[in-house]
Amino acid sequence: ACVAGALPMTSAFAQKKIVLGFAQVGAESEWRTANTESIKSAAQEAGIDLKFSDAQQKQENQIKAIRSYIAQKVDVIAFSPVVETGFENVLREAKAAKIPVVLTDRSVKVKDDSLYVTFMGSDFVEEGRKAGRWLVENQKGNKGPVNIVELQGTVGSAPAIDRKKGFEEIIKADPKFKIIRSQTGDFTRAKGKEVMEAFLKAEGKNINVLFAHNDDMAIGAIQAIEEAGMKPAKDITIISIDAVKGAFEAMMAGKLNVSVECSPLLGPQLMSAVKDIVAGKPVPKRIITKEGIFPMETAKAEFPSRKY
Ligand code: AHR
Repeated sequence: ACVAGALPMTSAFAQKKIVLGFAQVGAESEWRTANTESIKSAAQEAGIDLKFSDAQQKQENQIKAIRSYIAQKVDVIAFSPVVETGFENVLREAKAAKIPVVLTDRSVKVKDDSLYVTFMGSDFVEEGRKAGRWLVENQKGNKGPVNIVELQGTVGSAPAIDRKKGFEEIIKADPKFKIIRSQTGDFTRAKGKEVMEAFLKAEGKNINVLFAHNDDMAIGAIQAIEEAGMKPAKDITIISIDAVKGAFEAMMAGKLNVSVECSPLLGPQLMSAVKDIVAGKPVPKRIITKEGIFPMETAKAEFPSRKY
């Protein structure tokens, strides 16, 4: 029986669900689809009410979504910025509304880093370096020149800027490595194929290596290389980043030489940070994801345990 005046647990003492507004980049790649799935399932598991939006790779859509989360007075806003710059104003609006912001996957360039609580995700410069180191080792004994074409990610995005930087930092030590063409493929298969077709048209057999900033563009480029009558991973050495299942399939088919890991499985760590922030606990300013590198020879053994 109820004691007079006592309230049942389900009303006054039941905890209010945390509301998280997440502004996603888009659905441009296999990586991004796995990232979205990780965030949605982790929110459900953690009992967090998730409001989710897809910016279709457009910064203005992402800013609109963030403004709408501010208007809805969500508890926390998280987003993976399409590009690095241009978010200062909306971040200030969130701060003025006292809504903490978490950056996931990609970072922003801002003068005032109190505009966000934490940034969790990969070290993209290091990913570029890993790709460069693999190439240097792979081309040992080759006097060169080694002509490289580069498929860059979305213009102005942190992974495109940083991966390029890390890769160049390593290969510049040996003048035999030359980037002869470099253009954006916007992180998509379709664009990767289209730009590789143009590279092949302009350079043909002159191309020795393709460095693609993600697996999807590499997979698109593989199609272009085959359609041009050449053998991917043999006539042209191919290096890419993400290590999604599609890349493992390409490696097992002997069409991709190596993929540097970039993990999209950020959901559980995001939800735990959101809970800590709401509870007033401190969270580190930078949370770096641990990652490896998978050459073609390891693909068959690793494939069964891949989670994305
Ligand atoms: O920001 C991470 C990058 O974005 C991934 O490498 C790429 O596949 C994605 O679209």
